[in-house]
Amino acid sequence: MQKLTYKNSDQMPVLGLGTWKSSPSEVYEAVKEAVKIGYRHIDCAAIYGNEEEIGKALNELMEEGVVKREELWITSKLWNCNHGKDNVIPALKETLADLQLDYLDLYLIHWPIAQKKGVSYASEADEFLSLEEQPVSDTWKGMEQAVKEGLTRNIGVCNFSVNKLKDLIEVAEIRPELNQVELHPYLQQNELVEYCKSQSIHVMAYSPLGSSDRPEVVRRDDDPVLLEDTLITSLANAKGISVAQMILAYGVQRGISVIPKSVNAQRLKQNLDAAKVELTDEEMLNMASLNMDRRYVEGKFFEVPGGPYTSNSIWE
Ligand code: A2P
Repeated sequence: MQKLTYKNSDQMPVLGLGTWKSSPSEVYEAVKEAVKIGYRHIDCAAIYGNEEEIGKALNELMEEGVVKREELWITSKLWNCNHGKDNVIPALKETLADLQLDYLDLYLIHWPIAQKKGVSYASEADEFLSLEEQPVSDTWKGMEQAVKEGLTRNIGVCNFSVNKLKDLIEVAEIRPELNQVELHPYLQQNELVEYCKSQSIHVMAYSPLGSSDRPEVVRRDDDPVLLEDTLITSLANAKGISVAQMILAYGVQRGISVIPKSVNAQRLKQNLDAAKVELTDEEMLNMASLNMDRRYVEGKFFEVPGGPYTSNSIWE
């Protein structure tokens, strides 16, 4: 499988397993199956509430001799209530304990959003901290310290706009290595991808299949269903592959890491095989034509009356 290379020469398999929305009861089997059939990259986050089960699966896989730690790429993310220089390492250590690991390959700031300590899901204005009160630059110092202490090999961010990346790069001692954002044929993020390429920052696509299982809070009645797109369906049929494979292959061929979530053995295999698919120039152009800058995860759940964040301020 194609790999993306980091500045310290680490190599990340371009296609990984997403675990957002995988329930604790399903994720254990999904991770075991995924690694057994060849996945070597797992995307996790503390807020997904399933790192303990993932840790159990990883530990068993290593004990059974299916895989060695150094063959795996494990990412996790710092939740919003743990921003601030001194909060990063304790949060990371908790994640490492849950995952039963000594180090991560990649640790990301989950959102450019800060919440007060202990607040998992803020719903009132006073449960948030603005980025003036709790600057990303301060949190980043904690992320850099985590690299220095060997708790994670690489650091990066999620849901950062070009402007927020620029601000961070200006103050970073260790530059962010990756930006994980929602990205799929309906939201191709061309400007952001170009900027990241110019700065040697990798891009990772969450919701690469359009997250048809996304929670109610991020659903609108007029949302187009990516997996039912007629153009992708006809391109996929002509090529003898599935719609999901067409979508994932398009991301990979753009040099973007994709982390499709599945808890189903057949779909896990299908998605992994997408990394082997090659698209023609014409297929690439057809897929490119589908962009409509359509975000499914707008971040509106961070917008509360009198609060410091709006879905516009997040992405500007
Ligand atoms: P399941 O877990 O039952 O396979 P995303 O990665 O964009 O968040 O999308 C995840 C959603 O897409 C889940 O509902 C997942 O269901 C479904 N899914 C994953 N792989 C495929 C596939 N190859 N074909 C169709 N649906 C898929």
